[in-house]
Amino acid sequence: MSTYRVAVLAGDGIGPEVMHEALSVLSAVEQKYGFSTQRVEKPVGGAGIDACGKALPADTLAACEAADAILFGSVGGPKWESLPPEERPERGALLPLRTHFGLYANLRPGVCLPELSAASPLKDNLIAGGFDILCVRELTGGMYFGKPKFYGERGGELVGLDTMIYHRYEVERIGHLAFCAAQKRKHRLCSVDKANVLNASILWRDVMTELSAQYPDVELSHMYVDNAAMQLVRNPGQFDVIVTENTFGDILTDEMAVICGSLGMLPSASLCTRSGRTFGLYEPSGGSAPDIAGQGVANPIAQILSVGMMLRHSFGQVQAANAIDNAVRAVISAGYRTRDLASGAQGEQVVGTSAMGEAILNAIV
Ligand code: IPM
Ligand code: MG
Repeated sequence: MSTYRVAVLAGDGIGPEVMHEALSVLSAVEQKYGFSTQRVEKPVGGAGIDACGKALPADTLAACEAADAILFGSVGGPKWESLPPEERPERGALLPLRTHFGLYANLRPGVCLPELSAASPLKDNLIAGGFDILCVRELTGGMYFGKPKFYGERGGELVGLDTMIYHRYEVERIGHLAFCAAQKRKHRLCSVDKANVLNASILWRDVMTELSAQYPDVELSHMYVDNAAMQLVRNPGQFDVIVTENTFGDILTDEMAVICGSLGMLPSASLCTRSGRTFGLYEPSGGSAPDIAGQGVANPIAQILSVGMMLRHSFGQVQAANAIDNAVRAVISAGYRTRDLASGAQGEQVVGTSAMGEAILNAIV
């Protein structure tokens, strides 16, 4: 029987509550599909700061090093907001994990199920039938990490400086990954850039165009990021796979998340290749939602679907991953809604975190 090692970092806010449900669902599919996991739970984010003074304690990082995948909850909250920016849970834990493991590819699926269209802020006629977008965001380059970086006095004036830089190899590797993802979907790839202004984007566009010769079965298009932000709310159904650089991807994926109905629905995977295998950090796209933490009302679906992505991408347990995706669809079809998804329509049953987790667990076949 295959056994996989999972570093479980639940973090702050709603993280522990939704993680609890996700781990129950994981146990259920393990039994059903004949594999097992060895889980090591470690503090991260604010919990790491409280336990050992650091958002990413050395012991937590060591557990991630020893694992086949990282299952991450969410980090941050008002308690740690007065810390210096680089010590706060978000920057002190997530960004170092991304750089340490070189997690360059961030997959964020944006699926709006037809049953949840009422929860989307878009008008019905714009999302008729729902939509299904995959955003492939470059995660270890661009302005987040480009040097020089500076904040301070220069020439008697306070300045802040960040650098947007891309190297050819960075665009190539994310490009290949995005083209391959499109081959498994509807064979359409939209590369988003700002090539009318930025040099990093001209490089991006040139490399994507060049790569497209190797993928004749994928239709490549290019779109400026300002237009893409607008097209997402005007006609989201036009997109299949989107590939874009780090900062643009950060912004567009929040937009994509909200038009899907709820941040509580969207999982994500941050991937790299490690010892010849796909290693990843799997986490919900939404944040730690401190305002509703501890109330038992948070939506556990994004965390549960993140388990599904882990099974699919890092462990190759595709059937188990499909079973999770199908179970989520089944409970949504059956009318189960956490508070964030409720529209007041007939047939809806508003449930809390654990009842939603349990319904999904029971729907696993
Ligand atoms: C995200 C988040 C992070 C980012 C923050 C918390 C550093 O917004 O994963 O989208 O900007 O990448
Ligand atoms: Mg973001």
